Amino acid sequence: MKWLVVWRSSFQKIGAINDSTPLVKSLIYWEATRSWPRSNVAMSDYYDHHATTFIATTRDVDMSESRGRFLTALPTRPGGSARILDAGSGSGRDALAFRLLGHEVAAFDASPAMVAATQAHAAVLTRLMRFEEFAWEHQLEGIWACASLLHVAAVDLPGVIGRLAAHLVPGGALYLSFKHGTGDRMNDRRRFTDMTAERLAALLDGCGTLGQPDIWVSWDCRPDRASEVWVNSVVKKT
Ligand SMILES: C[S@@+](CC[C@H](N)C(=O)[O-])C[C@H]1O[C@@H](n2cnc3c(N)ncnc32)[C@H](O)[C@@H]1O
Repeated sequence: MKWLVVWRSSFQKIGAINDSTPLVKSLIYWEATRSWPRSNVAMSDYYDHHATTFIATTRDVDMSESRGRFLTALPTRPGGSARILDAGSGSGRDALAFRLLGHEVAAFDASPAMVAATQAHAAVLTRLMRFEEFAWEHQLEGIWACASLLHVAAVDLPGVIGRLAAHLVPGGALYLSFKHGTGDRMNDRRRFTDMTAERLAALLDGCGTLGQPDIWVSWDCRPDRASEVWVNSVVKKT
Protein backbone atom coordinates (compact mmCIF):
# COMPACT_ATOMS: atom_id res chain seq x y z
CA MET A 1 0.00 0.00 0.00
CA LYS A 2 1.51 3.27 -1.13
CA TRP A 3 0.04 5.34 1.74
CA LEU A 4 1.53 2.93 4.25
CA VAL A 5 5.05 3.19 2.81
CA VAL A 6 4.82 7.01 2.69
CA TRP A 7 3.40 7.20 6.23
CA ARG A 8 6.09 4.86 7.61
CA SER A 9 9.03 6.59 5.95
CA SER A 10 7.81 10.10 6.92
CA PHE A 11 7.58 9.15 10.59
CA GLN A 12 10.88 7.25 10.40
CA LYS A 13 12.59 10.34 8.99
CA ILE A 14 11.64 12.45 11.98
CA GLY A 15 12.66 9.62 14.34
CA ALA A 16 9.12 9.21 15.74
CA ILE A 17 8.99 5.47 14.98
CA ASN A 18 11.19 2.56 13.98
CA ASP A 19 10.47 -1.02 12.91
CA SER A 20 10.23 -2.15 16.57
CA THR A 21 7.33 0.21 17.34
CA PRO A 22 4.33 -2.10 18.07
CA LEU A 23 2.00 -0.37 15.58
CA VAL A 24 4.67 -0.54 12.88
CA LYS A 25 5.33 -4.23 13.62
CA SER A 26 1.59 -4.93 13.22
CA LEU A 27 1.46 -3.02 9.93
CA ILE A 28 4.55 -4.86 8.61
CA TYR A 29 2.91 -8.18 9.53
CA TRP A 30 -0.36 -7.14 7.89
CA GLU A 31 1.52 -6.00 4.78
CA ALA A 32 3.47 -9.27 4.56
CA THR A 33 0.50 -11.57 5.18
CA ARG A 34 -2.50 -9.86 3.58
CA SER A 35 -2.23 -11.99 0.42
CA TRP A 36 -1.74 -15.28 2.28
CA PRO A 37 -4.50 -17.90 2.21
CA ARG A 38 -6.29 -17.74 5.57
CA SER A 39 -5.42 -21.38 6.42
CA ASN A 40 -1.75 -20.43 6.50
CA VAL A 41 -2.34 -17.44 8.71
CA ALA A 42 -4.01 -19.88 11.13
CA MET A 43 -0.87 -22.03 10.95
CA SER A 44 1.43 -19.17 11.88
CA ASP A 45 -1.14 -18.19 14.56
CA TYR A 46 -0.48 -21.56 16.21
CA TYR A 47 3.22 -20.81 16.58
CA ASP A 48 2.53 -17.22 17.62
CA HIS A 49 0.07 -18.28 20.32
CA HIS A 50 2.19 -21.15 21.62
CA ALA A 51 5.53 -19.39 21.18
CA THR A 52 6.72 -19.57 24.80
CA THR A 53 5.99 -23.28 25.21
CA PHE A 54 7.20 -24.16 21.73
CA ILE A 55 10.51 -22.35 22.18
CA ALA A 56 11.04 -23.79 25.67
CA THR A 57 10.52 -27.36 24.42
CA THR A 58 12.57 -27.15 21.21
CA ARG A 59 15.44 -24.68 21.69
CA ASP A 60 17.70 -27.12 23.53
CA VAL A 61 16.85 -30.27 21.60
CA ASP A 62 20.02 -32.06 20.48
CA MET A 63 19.88 -32.07 16.67
CA SER A 64 23.64 -32.49 16.28
CA GLU A 65 23.43 -35.83 14.47
CA SER A 66 21.21 -34.51 11.66
CA ARG A 67 23.14 -31.24 11.52
CA GLY A 68 26.35 -33.28 11.19
CA ARG A 69 24.98 -35.25 8.22
CA PHE A 70 23.90 -32.02 6.54
CA LEU A 71 27.23 -30.27 7.23
CA THR A 72 29.18 -33.20 5.80
CA ALA A 73 27.27 -32.84 2.52
CA LEU A 74 27.75 -29.06 2.25
CA PRO A 75 30.09 -27.62 -0.35
CA THR A 76 32.18 -24.83 1.15
CA ARG A 77 33.49 -21.61 -0.32
CA PRO A 78 37.09 -20.42 -0.25
CA GLY A 79 37.78 -19.82 3.45
CA GLY A 80 35.72 -22.83 4.51
CA SER A 81 32.33 -21.30 5.30
CA ALA A 82 29.01 -21.85 3.56
CA ARG A 83 25.88 -19.75 3.07
CA ILE A 84 23.14 -21.58 4.98
CA LEU A 85 19.46 -20.69 5.11
CA ASP A 86 17.40 -22.00 8.04
CA ALA A 87 13.96 -22.41 6.46
CA GLY A 88 11.15 -22.40 9.04
CA SER A 89 13.68 -21.62 11.75
CA GLY A 90 11.43 -21.70 14.85
CA SER A 91 13.42 -20.95 18.01
CA GLY A 92 16.67 -20.29 16.10
CA ARG A 93 18.43 -23.30 17.66
CA ASP A 94 20.04 -24.54 14.44
CA ALA A 95 20.70 -21.09 12.96
CA LEU A 96 22.78 -20.37 16.06
CA ALA A 97 24.64 -23.69 15.84
CA PHE A 98 25.55 -23.05 12.19
CA ARG A 99 26.60 -19.47 12.89
CA LEU A 100 28.85 -20.56 15.77
CA LEU A 101 30.62 -22.90 13.33
CA GLY A 102 31.54 -19.86 11.25
CA HIS A 103 28.93 -20.17 8.50
CA GLU A 104 27.05 -17.25 6.95
CA VAL A 105 23.52 -17.90 8.18
CA ALA A 106 20.12 -16.35 7.41
CA ALA A 107 16.64 -17.60 8.22
CA PHE A 108 12.94 -17.20 7.51
CA ASP A 109 9.70 -18.28 9.12
CA ALA A 110 5.98 -17.70 8.58
CA SER A 111 5.37 -16.80 12.23
CA PRO A 112 6.32 -13.32 13.52
CA ALA A 113 6.97 -14.79 16.98
CA MET A 114 9.40 -17.33 15.52
CA VAL A 115 11.09 -14.65 13.42
CA ALA A 116 11.64 -12.64 16.61
CA ALA A 117 12.85 -15.75 18.48
CA THR A 118 15.41 -16.62 15.80
CA GLN A 119 16.67 -13.05 15.63
CA ALA A 120 17.02 -12.86 19.40
CA HIS A 121 18.62 -16.30 19.88
CA ALA A 122 20.80 -16.67 16.78
CA ALA A 123 21.43 -13.03 15.85
CA VAL A 124 21.03 -13.72 12.12
CA LEU A 125 19.00 -11.97 9.44
CA THR A 126 15.52 -13.51 9.71
CA ARG A 127 12.66 -12.74 7.35
CA LEU A 128 8.91 -13.16 7.69
CA MET A 129 8.24 -15.38 4.70
CA ARG A 130 6.31 -18.51 3.73
CA PHE A 131 7.69 -21.45 1.79
CA GLU A 132 4.92 -20.91 -0.74
CA GLU A 133 6.31 -17.46 -1.67
CA PHE A 134 9.98 -18.31 -1.14
CA ALA A 135 12.58 -16.25 -3.00
CA TRP A 136 16.11 -15.28 -2.03
CA GLU A 137 18.50 -12.81 -3.64
CA HIS A 138 21.53 -15.08 -3.89
CA GLN A 139 22.45 -18.74 -4.20
CA LEU A 140 23.14 -20.86 -1.12
CA GLU A 141 25.42 -23.78 -0.29
CA GLY A 142 22.81 -25.23 2.06
CA ILE A 143 19.13 -25.03 3.03
CA TRP A 144 18.09 -26.54 6.36
CA ALA A 145 14.35 -27.23 6.62
CA CYS A 146 14.03 -29.07 9.93
CA ALA A 147 10.45 -30.10 10.77
CA SER A 148 9.08 -27.20 8.77
CA LEU A 149 8.16 -28.40 5.26
CA LEU A 150 5.85 -30.83 7.06
CA HIS A 151 3.33 -27.95 7.31
CA VAL A 152 3.23 -27.40 3.54
CA ALA A 153 0.31 -29.07 1.74
CA ALA A 154 1.37 -32.19 -0.20
CA VAL A 155 0.12 -30.67 -3.43
CA ASP A 156 2.44 -27.66 -2.98
CA LEU A 157 5.56 -29.61 -1.94
CA PRO A 158 7.01 -30.37 -5.42
CA GLY A 159 6.85 -26.68 -6.39
CA VAL A 160 8.21 -25.49 -3.04
CA ILE A 161 11.10 -27.99 -3.01
CA GLY A 162 11.84 -27.19 -6.65
CA ARG A 163 12.06 -23.48 -5.78
CA LEU A 164 14.34 -24.19 -2.79
CA ALA A 165 16.56 -26.36 -5.02
CA ALA A 166 16.72 -23.60 -7.61
CA HIS A 167 18.42 -21.43 -4.96
CA LEU A 168 21.18 -23.98 -4.29
CA VAL A 169 24.57 -23.83 -5.96
CA PRO A 170 25.45 -27.02 -7.92
CA GLY A 171 26.36 -29.57 -5.26
CA GLY A 172 24.46 -27.57 -2.62
CA ALA A 173 22.63 -29.56 0.09
CA LEU A 174 19.02 -29.53 1.28
CA TYR A 175 18.01 -31.10 4.61
CA LEU A 176 14.34 -31.80 5.24
CA SER A 177 12.42 -33.80 7.83
CA PHE A 178 8.84 -35.00 8.23
CA LYS A 179 6.90 -37.02 10.76
CA HIS A 180 6.55 -40.63 9.73
CA GLY A 181 3.16 -41.49 8.23
CA THR A 182 1.24 -41.98 5.06
CA GLY A 183 -1.09 -39.05 4.59
CA ASP A 184 -2.11 -35.52 5.35
CA ARG A 185 -3.80 -34.67 8.64
CA MET A 186 -4.83 -31.84 10.95
CA ASN A 187 -3.64 -31.77 14.57
CA ASP A 188 -4.17 -28.87 16.97
CA ARG A 189 -5.20 -26.61 14.03
CA ARG A 190 -1.90 -27.42 12.27
CA ARG A 191 -1.76 -29.21 8.94
CA PHE A 192 0.79 -32.02 8.67
CA THR A 193 2.02 -33.75 5.53
CA ASP A 194 3.52 -37.03 6.71
CA MET A 195 6.10 -39.12 4.85
CA THR A 196 7.37 -42.63 4.59
CA ALA A 197 10.88 -43.10 3.19
CA GLU A 198 9.27 -44.28 -0.06
CA ARG A 199 6.91 -41.32 -0.34
CA LEU A 200 9.77 -38.90 0.34
CA ALA A 201 12.03 -40.62 -2.23
CA ALA A 202 9.27 -40.35 -4.86
CA LEU A 203 8.68 -36.67 -3.99
CA LEU A 204 12.39 -35.80 -4.31
CA ASP A 205 12.73 -37.85 -7.48
CA GLY A 206 10.01 -35.72 -9.06
CA CYS A 207 11.77 -32.46 -8.23
CA GLY A 208 14.13 -32.60 -11.22
CA THR A 209 17.41 -31.03 -10.26
CA LEU A 210 18.13 -33.13 -7.16
CA GLY A 211 20.43 -36.16 -7.00
CA GLN A 212 20.07 -39.44 -5.14
CA PRO A 213 18.83 -38.61 -1.61
CA ASP A 214 20.25 -39.97 1.62
CA ILE A 215 17.08 -40.89 3.58
CA TRP A 216 17.04 -42.14 7.16
CA VAL A 217 14.59 -42.68 9.99
CA SER A 218 15.17 -41.30 13.48
CA TRP A 219 13.37 -40.97 16.79
CA ASP A 220 12.24 -37.66 18.23
CA CYS A 221 15.07 -36.05 20.22
CA ARG A 222 12.63 -34.65 22.82
CA PRO A 223 12.58 -37.00 25.86
CA ASP A 224 8.76 -36.81 26.23
CA ARG A 225 8.27 -37.69 22.53
CA ALA A 226 10.91 -40.39 22.18
CA SER A 227 8.43 -42.79 20.53
CA GLU A 228 7.69 -40.43 17.60
CA VAL A 229 9.38 -41.38 14.34
CA TRP A 230 10.84 -38.91 11.81
CA VAL A 231 11.85 -39.36 8.20
CA ASN A 232 14.88 -37.24 7.28
CA SER A 233 16.79 -36.59 4.11
CA VAL A 234 19.87 -34.81 2.85
CA VAL A 235 19.79 -34.37 -0.91
CA LYS A 236 22.22 -32.54 -3.14
CA LYS A 237 21.57 -30.44 -6.20
CA THR A 238 23.05 -31.99 -9.32
C1 LIG B 1 7.71 -27.72 14.08
S1 LIG B 1 8.34 -26.11 13.86
C2 LIG B 1 10.09 -26.41 13.55
C3 LIG B 1 10.94 -25.23 13.92
C4 LIG B 1 12.46 -25.49 13.84
N1 LIG B 1 12.91 -25.69 12.48
C5 LIG B 1 12.85 -26.64 14.70
O1 LIG B 1 13.33 -27.67 14.17
O2 LIG B 1 12.68 -26.55 15.92
C6 LIG B 1 7.73 -25.58 12.31
C7 LIG B 1 8.16 -24.17 11.92
O3 LIG B 1 7.79 -23.94 10.57
C8 LIG B 1 7.16 -22.67 10.47
N2 LIG B 1 6.22 -22.74 9.33
C9 LIG B 1 5.02 -23.38 9.26
N3 LIG B 1 4.48 -23.23 8.06
C10 LIG B 1 5.36 -22.48 7.34
C11 LIG B 1 5.37 -21.99 6.00
N4 LIG B 1 4.36 -22.23 5.17
N5 LIG B 1 6.43 -21.25 5.59
C12 LIG B 1 7.47 -20.99 6.44
N6 LIG B 1 7.51 -21.43 7.72
C13 LIG B 1 6.47 -22.17 8.15
C14 LIG B 1 6.48 -22.48 11.80
O4 LIG B 1 6.17 -21.13 12.05
C15 LIG B 1 7.50 -23.08 12.76
O5 LIG B 1 8.45 -22.16 13.18
